[in-house]
This record gives sequence, C-alpha cells and structure tokens, in this order.
Amino acid sequence: MTIRALATYVPPRLLTNADLEKLVDTTDEWILQRTGIRERHVVDPGVATSDLGKEAALAAIGRAGLTPADIGFLVVGTVTPDMMFPSTACLLQHKIGAHHAWGFDLSAACSAFTYALTTGTQMVACGAHDYALVVGADVMSSIIDYQDRSTCVLFGDGAGAVVLAPAGPDDGAILDFEHEIDGSGGPALCMPAGGSLRPPSHETVEQRLHYVKQDGQTVFKFAVRKTEEISRRLLERNHLTPDDLSLFVSHQANRRIIQSATERLAIDPAKVIINIERFGNTTAATIPLALNDAIAAGRLKKGDLVLLASVGAGFTVGAVLIRWGY
Ligand code: ACO
Repeated sequence: MTIRALATYVPPRLLTNADLEKLVDTTDEWILQRTGIRERHVVDPGVATSDLGKEAALAAIGRAGLTPADIGFLVVGTVTPDMMFPSTACLLQHKIGAHHAWGFDLSAACSAFTYALTTGTQMVACGAHDYALVVGADVMSSIIDYQDRSTCVLFGDGAGAVVLAPAGPDDGAILDFEHEIDGSGGPALCMPAGGSLRPPSHETVEQRLHYVKQDGQTVFKFAVRKTEEISRRLLERNHLTPDDLSLFVSHQANRRIIQSATERLAIDPAKVIINIERFGNTTAATIPLALNDAIAAGRLKKGDLVLLASVGAGFTVGAVLIRWGY
C-alpha cells in the first residue's frame, strides 16, 4: 500500500505572537527563541475539527482521482473531537459523503497521525479495503487556556489527510513502523476534566481543568530522547542509517526539540522539515502539514525514503518509514 495523495487545510484566521502579547505576559522574542513559532491559525467560533478535516479530506480524495464513495475505511486522529460522541469519523463520513466507509477516531495526541497512518495501512494491506482515508485534525484552540502563557503560545489548529491505496511495483510503499506508549507520562500532559474521572461541573470550570495542562520540561526531555530512540530503532531494523534518508519529518512541537533530536541522530539539517514557525503545534496535523510543505518546495519526490517521527501526550511515541510514491 502507498500514499496516493495528501492534502491539508488550516483556517484562515491568524493568531500572531503580537496578538498573544496582548493576552498574556509574553514577548514575540521569547516565543520565537524558545519555540520557533511566529504565528498559528485558529478557527472562528462554530468551526469544528470535522470542518477542518472535511476540507483536507475532500482535497486529498480529489487529488487521488477518487470520489468519497470509493473510500472503504476512514480513521480520524484527534484529541479535539467535535463532541464526546458520535465520533468525528462518523461526522466526517457524513459531511464528505463517504457512504461506503466505516471508521473511528483514534486518540494518540501528537502521535495520532503516525498511529492513524499505521492503522489505515493495515486495513489496505490485509485486503479488506482498496482505499483508506487517514485524517489528522485538531482544533487545539478549543482546549487552550489563553490565560496560561506556558501553553497558549504553543498550539494552533489544522488538518491533514492522506488517501491510501494498494501499491503497484512503482508506487512507493509504507515500509515499516515502530510505536510505543508509556502511560507513566500521563500527568505530564493532559486535559484533566471532561471525561468520566472528572465530569464537567462548576468546580472543574472554575479551576480551569478543561484546558491543556503541561509540565513543559518533562515533555521536552522525553520528546528529544524518544524521537531519537524510536527513529534509530526503526532505521536499524531496516538496515538503514540516517544517511539513507531523503527526508526526516518530525512532529512539530518545538523547533528546539526537532533540532536536538536530529543533531543526536546526525541527520543533515537539509533533510529536516521545520515549519512550526507558521503553524505552531497543530497536534495530529503537524506531520501532514510538514509533508505538504515539503512537496510544495520540491523537497519530496517519488522514490524518496522518508522517516516520520512523533512524540505526544500519553506518552505516545511513533515512527513510520515510507518510500514516497508520487
Ligand atoms: N513567555 C514568557 N515567559 C514564559 C512563557 C512565555 N510564553 N512561558 C513560560 N515562560 C517563563 C516561565 O514562567 C519561566 O519563568 P521563571 O524562570 O521565572 O519561572 C521561564 O519562562 C522558563 O520556563 P521553562 O518552562 O523552563 O521554559 P522552557 O525553556 O522549558 O520552555 C516550553 C517552555 C516552550 C513549554 C518547553 O518546555 C517546551 O516546548 N516543551 C515541550 C512541550 C510541547 O511542545 N508539548 C506539546 C505537546 S507534546 C509534544 O508535542 C511532544
């Protein structure tokens, strides 16, 4: 199986560092230096994750030369579903008219795209479906506390989608994956209330528990260590070295995380995509947004060997090795 097409979508409204300077005690200089972010896109009220996913999904299906009715399976990676249930996959299926598809949401935070890509790949590889739609979409602005300077500067909204199809001999392939989770890291990055443990109440709202809470330094160190570790393990299993890669596409959480991890891996910076400056951390959408930029810049071509890597809340860790197919 191979990626037949990719498309992304971000809402038009920009939230710049200058805008954030008016909301919290921060500066453009601090944000840029500590994170690499200049601006992020955020939705207008009433726009949900399925709306962003719809734009990306329809564009990807069109680019694949298909119609929504051709999709047999769809998976939506997100931590910001439109609502607790029904799943955003169901809402998206209806919005795009994928009448023959079944599917579900996948919760793996910033690793959602690598996990969803792996899940979709298995559905095509086992022969159950010809075409699978993999969507990574998040409206992080819906769960960000714009009074908390340590988190509100980091995140943005966006969506990405790929269409997976059976591969012919010249089509590229999803070659291998390596994933792990470490639940001991849960408290370091979470949204404490709104689930079965702490259902919404006046207290949970007053205590601002429906927002992202993060121990930034713990997450930072884990992300650097694990991005290196999982990438190395996947390459070694495939008898490859970083030099064999054409492109390394990491989850975009912080420019310094990507730079530290790729330095440890000794990957040539010319092979590393960093576009966090324009989008911030869009959680499930960062990797497709980075791939899209790579394609647009002519940095990703048919036959290229690409390594995706992600670390996210959970903790979740993932890597996928791809021979690019178009
Ligand atoms: N503006 C100005 N000052 C700030 C801001 C801000 N926006 N945020 C924090 N500070 C202050 C802190 O209050 C602290 O001040 P103090 O020394 O007076 O207490 C000082 O800056 C240093 O804070 P640190 O937390 O040590 O700063 P650090 O260099 O670790 O950067 C950051 C913080 C950017 C959050 C970093 O830890 C990080 O990126 N962590 C990774 C988190 C992440 O991206 N998670 C996303 C999801 S998971 C994932 O994708 C891997």
